[in-house]
Parts: sequence; C-alpha cells; structure tokens
Amino acid sequence: MSRLRVAVVISGRGSNMLSLLDAMADPAFPAQPVLVAANLPDAGGLAAAAARGVPTACVDHRPFGADRTAFEQALSAEIEAAEADCVCLAGFMRKLTPWFVARWRDRALNIHPSLLPAFRGLDTHARALAAGVAVHGCTVHLLRDDLDDGPILGQAALAVRAGENADGLARRVLAIEHRLYPACLAAWACGARRVEGDRLTGAPIALFEG
Ligand code: GRF
Repeated sequence: MSRLRVAVVISGRGSNMLSLLDAMADPAFPAQPVLVAANLPDAGGLAAAAARGVPTACVDHRPFGADRTAFEQALSAEIEAAEADCVCLAGFMRKLTPWFVARWRDRALNIHPSLLPAFRGLDTHARALAAGVAVHGCTVHLLRDDLDDGPILGQAALAVRAGENADGLARRVLAIEHRLYPACLAAWACGARRVEGDRLTGAPIALFEG
C-alpha cells in the first residue's frame, strides 16, 4: 500500500497535529507524516513533532512583512522539498492567499472549531454560546479562497450543556477535533472520499460525542 505523504502545518501547541501523528504511527493508516512546519519558531508543536522523529521546518512569516505570497512560496518550497502529496492545516493561524490555495488545490485540508458554515473566523465557542445554539462542534474541509470555506469532508458535533462557558466548550470540542481529523484524513488518503468541483463524492464523515 502506498501511503499519502502528509505535511502538517501549525502555528501553536499542535494538539491536532499530534492526533494526526498518533494515527499515522499505525503502519496500516493510509497516510504518513513527512513534515511538520510552522510559521513561528516558538510553536510548541515543533519540538513535540521533532521528539517523535518527524522532520520539522519553520518559515517565520514576520521577515516577509506584508508580502504574504513570498511567505507562502517559502512555506510551499519546504512542503515540496519534503515531497508531500497533501497539506493538513492544524491550528495554522494565518489566512492563506489564492496563490497557496491554487498551488495546493484539492490537496489541502483544514480543521475549524465550529460546525461550518456557522461561525467562520475566531472566537467560535463564545460566539456559539452567545447565539444560544444547541449543537456545536468542528469541521474538516478542503481549503478554498474564502476563510473557513470549502467542501466539507467531515464534522463532529456535541450538545451544548446548560451553564457551560467558552473554555469548557473549547475543551470538549478539541477532544472531538482529535477524533475527527484522523478519521477525515484516513477517508481522504485511501480515496474513500474525493472532491469533484466543489462537491464531495460520498457523504461527509459525521461523528457525535458520546
Ligand atoms: C484548534 O481548535 C483548531 O480547530 C483551530 O485552532 C486550534 C488549534 O489547536 N484552528 P492545536 O494547536 O491543534 O492544539
């Protein structure tokens, strides 16, 4: 079996990245990690990935200033040098330009902590609570030009609890993110789910807490 070669791109602690590395540590998993890259040298996930023997790279976005495309070209060069087939954004906190999206079109996944298309952007848990939703969760989708937009590969949902605050909700959503992302990557990597135009072939993956 040839395993899809995956570059995971992070900005911070990298708990989703570690859930992907854990899943890919199984030789039967249809993908393997070839790189963990970050845009900040102090991203905690870099050391955690290196400790597991996964090659790491840092492309600091700051020296590039306002030239987002130049930063993305440097990041993409690292991903290409690792001969990655696919990019998993996992807590990568920079908006990507159409250049990067086109370069990795239909080969880049992202995880977002809401049930898209609700609550794109930041502070999703506080906004979900403020809106009074009954069900909240997370989404893995393909990367497109608009922020937190693109064909949905899978979603995981949980019921909001009475009196719950944003921190507690964030903790519970993060736990289901850690189940959802590997499940989606597996389905994607083995070809059980593909995208045609802007539609997924087959039903998106659906997980529910509990
Ligand atoms: C996750 O909630 C992810 O959905 C969001 O940023 C957070 C990153 O957490 N995009 P981690 O770095 O994976 O722990």
